[in-house]
This record gives sequence, C-alpha cells and structure tokens, in this order.
Amino acid sequence: MVTIRPSSHRPNGGPSVAKKVAKKAKGTVLCKADAVPADGLLQCAAGSLKVCVARSGKDFYAFQSECPHKRTPLCDGALDGHVLTCLDHMWQWDIRSGEPEGLAEQPIRTFKLRRDGDSLVLVE
Ligand code: FES
Repeated sequence: MVTIRPSSHRPNGGPSVAKKVAKKAKGTVLCKADAVPADGLLQCAAGSLKVCVARSGKDFYAFQSECPHKRTPLCDGALDGHVLTCLDHMWQWDIRSGEPEGLAEQPIRTFKLRRDGDSLVLVE
C-alpha cells in the first residue's frame, strides 16, 4: 500500500498568477503512480501548471517544476530521501515542506496529492 503524505503550501514569489493556475488545476490527474521512478522524479503537468512529482520510498510529493534560483528544471535534480538538490548550484530543499536547506535562499512551492486508483491527483 502506498501512502501519500500531504505537503504544506509554500507560495513561491508572486502570489496571484501561480495561485490561480494551481487552483484551476485542482483535481487534475498528474500521472500514474507507477510512472514515477522509485526514489526518483517525474515531470508532470496539470493544464498549464508544470509540477515535479517525487517518489521517496512509498510516499509521493509534488512541487514546482522550476528552481527558484535560475529556473532549471527541478526534475533534473537529485533526490536523496526527502532532500532535493538542484544540480546547477546545489540549492537543496526538503520536499515534504518545501523548506530550503543548505545553500538554498528560497523555498519551493509544494502541492498536496491524493491517490485515486493508480493515479496521482493534484488536490491543491
Ligand atoms: S538553478 Fe537551481 S540552484 Fe541555481
């Protein structure tokens, strides 16, 4: 059985456009759970909202697709447990909360997911 733990909401940067896009994408299937590599990352989309989905053990997490530093795709980063590293300049975050770790100067926005059969659905 796969457990999906909710992520906290962490707005990143300007509030209005990103929040409206995320609200519109609510309830959208992001991907099949099996499509996310074990302890890996998968780029997904819900309408115009691009989301990176991570699998850490049995848990799934979702967060913004671009690094807040220089907009590098975060799905090209490295995942070690719950720590995501953007390989361009080594900023790191805890994907459970989006909180920065190490060198990172800004948080990343996280999204809540729920499991619907074999699919992962964006909750908010
Ligand atoms: S682009 Fe991600 S840390 Fe610089």
